[in-house]
Amino acid sequence: MGRSLFISFEGIDGCGKSTQIRLLNEYLKGKGYDVLLTREPGGSVISEKIRAMLLDKANSDMTDVTEALLYAAARDQLVNTVIIPALEEGKIVLCDRFVDSSEAYQGFGRRLGSEYILDINRRILDHLPDITFYFKLTPEEAQRRISNMKRDTDRLEEAGISFFERTNEGFNTIAERDSDRIVTLNAGDTIENIHQKITDIVDDYLNR
Ligand code: TYD
Repeated sequence: MGRSLFISFEGIDGCGKSTQIRLLNEYLKGKGYDVLLTREPGGSVISEKIRAMLLDKANSDMTDVTEALLYAAARDQLVNTVIIPALEEGKIVLCDRFVDSSEAYQGFGRRLGSEYILDINRRILDHLPDITFYFKLTPEEAQRRISNMKRDTDRLEEAGISFFERTNEGFNTIAERDSDRIVTLNAGDTIENIHQKITDIVDDYLNR
């Protein structure tokens, strides 16, 4: 049986984490590790149903609290029916987003606050990842994203832009606070450099 390891990947939309998850998955599988790749919200039958509700544009009147509770519900289902069993089998679990996304998006972005988000995710906090890679955008790239949003989306008024800024700031705050667990990566670096940094850290952990 291999050594179990739980890794999550965080960052605002478009930070490049999907590419890095795919590369790490291939790298670890190439080395013979048993890897489970999953994502949030989703990753289990019930969680994917909740995901569909969350991402459905028809649900535009969903309250912020409903949204936060649905993300927490999808997470509880994923952790208990998929992630914990996989870790018990000695697998390496790679999860695209985890509880930090709820704190950043719902806590900071939607302004529900960290305390409330951590409260409704309390049981999940016993199952935090061993390592979280946070893909941090440089202020310049963050700025560019904001101006792209202004150009591309007419519906995206002030609220949308400050939602993005608050979420980004939320991730930065969480990463600084939980620096024991969260590894901050410069999302503007090259794909190769970022991949190298990630594999160095993961190899180090697995060889410990
Ligand atoms: P997705 O299409 O998977 O985005 P990405 O590929 O960038 O991960 O949609 C997930 C969306 O859900 C994304 O915008 C972030 C958001 N989200 C939250 O707001 N709270 C959460 O707890 C999680 C897990 C995701």
